[in-house]
Amino acid sequence: MTDISDIPAHIGFIMDGNGRWATAKGMPRKFGHEAGARTFENIVESCRDLGIRYATFYAFSTENKSRPKDEIDALMLLFDRYADDIFRRIKNGETKTYENVRIRFVGDLSYFSEKRRKSISDIENINSDKEIRLTVCIALNYGGRNEIVNAVNRFISANPGKTVSEKSISENLYAPDVPDPDLIIRTAGEMRLSNFLLWQSAYAEFYATPVFWPDFSENDLKKAIESYSKRTRKFGGISK
Ligand code: FPP
Repeated sequence: MTDISDIPAHIGFIMDGNGRWATAKGMPRKFGHEAGARTFENIVESCRDLGIRYATFYAFSTENKSRPKDEIDALMLLFDRYADDIFRRIKNGETKTYENVRIRFVGDLSYFSEKRRKSISDIENINSDKEIRLTVCIALNYGGRNEIVNAVNRFISANPGKTVSEKSISENLYAPDVPDPDLIIRTAGEMRLSNFLLWQSAYAEFYATPVFWPDFSENDLKKAIESYSKRTRKFGGISK
């Protein structure tokens, strides 16, 4: 680690490569998702400790629903177990991972059962009386196009006859108070956004690493931030 002069306020993570990580070890894909969930917790802690204010994690996309049923079932079981576990550990003061961390969920949550939506809202409310250093958004049944369509429809139904603007779309996203991401990190070597934060990432910097998500470490995160801090962001203007 040489120099981190510019810490991004908001990082988006495309957590890719769980399946390949497990397959390379001769293990079932769900084993990779379980390892990925442990990495998620490590990276939450690192983000908070490095002074990042917002982190959005792409956990389950609208397109992931086309995966084989047993993989979707395994992922849902993992989310349920995690949700219960996170809630219990925070409530009983058994974890430092979520200290000063607020968790939110973004995506079309109407897809989930009432029971799952209840645990989602329990988790969202649990640290509401604490000082918050990091807000974590977990993108579940999330699709960027779906989010934009949803925002437009929400605006139109609240403002019949009015014209949609950039501001009105931004104000009707799933988490309108969360600033746009400065940096999007994708693991496992792919170079695409895959429908993640399409509206919000208009001027985000993109960083790809070949490391599979279960192996992604605080050191890898620091390398990504270091690369980000050396870039010149122009937002469509010219370099100063
Ligand atoms: C992509 O890897 C990963 C997913 C579709 C699921 C991501 C979920 C987790 C990391 C668990 C997160 C848990 C919580 C509690 C937020 P892939 O299956 O597409 O991997 P592959 O491209 O190698 O097949």
